[in-house]
Amino acid sequence: MGDTSIPVAAHNKTDICKFTPKPYFLHLYIDLVVYASALPLQKIDRMVFLTRVEHFNAAHKLYNPGWSREKNDAVFGKCANDNWHGHNYELYVTVKGKPDPETGFVFDVKRLSLLIKEYVIEKVDHRNLNVDVEFLKGQFCSTENLAIGIWKQLIPHLPDGVQLHCIKLYETPRIYVEYFGD
Ligand code: NI
Repeated sequence: MGDTSIPVAAHNKTDICKFTPKPYFLHLYIDLVVYASALPLQKIDRMVFLTRVEHFNAAHKLYNPGWSREKNDAVFGKCANDNWHGHNYELYVTVKGKPDPETGFVFDVKRLSLLIKEYVIEKVDHRNLNVDVEFLKGQFCSTENLAIGIWKQLIPHLPDGVQLHCIKLYETPRIYVEYFGD
């Protein structure tokens, strides 16, 4: 049995080896691994897109007063109905920017939601777009023009470093417009 046990001297030698200073090439390797592991953090300097979705209901009609009844009906169909009709709009507001180094956020999404609610939703929700909405006065209340109007409502209220990228507005689940600014 005695010839299979590890001599005390050899055992101590193994432990000592664990604390032997590592050769230069090994330090270089470790430095490279540490550097490589930091690379993903550097990528947060890149542009990121952030979207907040909001919802509103509104009434409108599409009607050109310079046209005959027949032409309005031919072009706009049921959307030219004199007594209005409504939609359940889904609004996607996308901003872009570089993540803040202290928060990792492009923009505080709660603030974005509050801005959308204050400057858009409060003005259009449960309203008649042709009659009640100041920022659509004198315009055809198409979804296209509504998206442009929403863009103009929001853009003065975004902080430096946060850019409005897209207003995407669903009029129905199968019809939407996108506006990316002029
Ligand atoms: Ni409509």
